[in-house]
Amino acid sequence: MKHHIAPLFCRPWTLNGMSPRLIESHYEHNYGAALNRLNSVTTELEALDVKTTPAPVISRLSRERTTLLNSTLLHELYFASLGGDGRSLPDTIADALASDFGSVDRWRQEFIALAEALTGDSGWILLTYVPRDGRLINHSASDHAESIAGGIPILALDMYEHAYHIEYGANTAAYIAAFMRNIHWGAVEARFADARTVSPPRSLDQPEFKHVPSITPEEVHEMLSSGKRLQIIDTRPRHYSTRAQDIVEGAVWRDPERIDEWMTSLSKDAPVVTFCVYGFHIGCQSAAALRKAGFDARYMAGGHYAWKAIKGPVKLFE
Ligand SMILES: [Fe+2]
Repeated sequence: MKHHIAPLFCRPWTLNGMSPRLIESHYEHNYGAALNRLNSVTTELEALDVKTTPAPVISRLSRERTTLLNSTLLHELYFASLGGDGRSLPDTIADALASDFGSVDRWRQEFIALAEALTGDSGWILLTYVPRDGRLINHSASDHAESIAGGIPILALDMYEHAYHIEYGANTAAYIAAFMRNIHWGAVEARFADARTVSPPRSLDQPEFKHVPSITPEEVHEMLSSGKRLQIIDTRPRHYSTRAQDIVEGAVWRDPERIDEWMTSLSKDAPVVTFCVYGFHIGCQSAAALRKAGFDARYMAGGHYAWKAIKGPVKLFE
């Protein structure tokens, strides 16, 4: 056995409007089946001779394992989401929901709307923490294999028919309301605290330029849109600029090799933003040289292509 069964997290006899019979059946027949099948598929996959097995067979088994592993994990999260009174939100999670959704009520309405949208269909409704952005989002997963890369789900609502049918029939609204009444917010908060210890994905590291401040393309865009005075200098290398077709709207191109000549035309009263093609070196070096000369300069992270990727305005480079 590769994957071990998790004990039932919630105490079924304490739930409000969800009977032990419903939870027992769900735990035994659906969660249990997913776990057993997961172990069987994992064993089958690991026993394959990958040199002689056709690639589609490996792929099919691998996809099946992904689906079963997610079903197992999400069922465990579902049972660990129940057992509370649904109302007592600890401050930490209430503040996070208010910050990321506008208010706890708005979060609740969105979560319920996503669940209602799955009426007659199957899937999961999840509240997930995304370390990359340091925020929570609601989302539905219409099958077990849908998940957010790097996201950590902390609350799960099972919208597969087997989760409610024996007790609620087709009345999904009543089932959703019962789920919301039984959310164990203390357990959700504990998982949220764990999730927040996960670092975001590592960003581009340029140790040689760690002392040179940068600015994001979004910040530059915002500053330009608000009418802030900026001196934006495109310092793509001359050999590159000769074949470049476009340039950031509001930028001027200057040859990075001749920075000592053109820097005298810049003002020290307004910030300077430099950038090159991808944001690796030349834009950083230009910003460093300008700072050394007393300018309030920084380089635009990601360079010309990051600007284009956020649909920043460009004009023909002539
Ligand atoms: Fe289920």
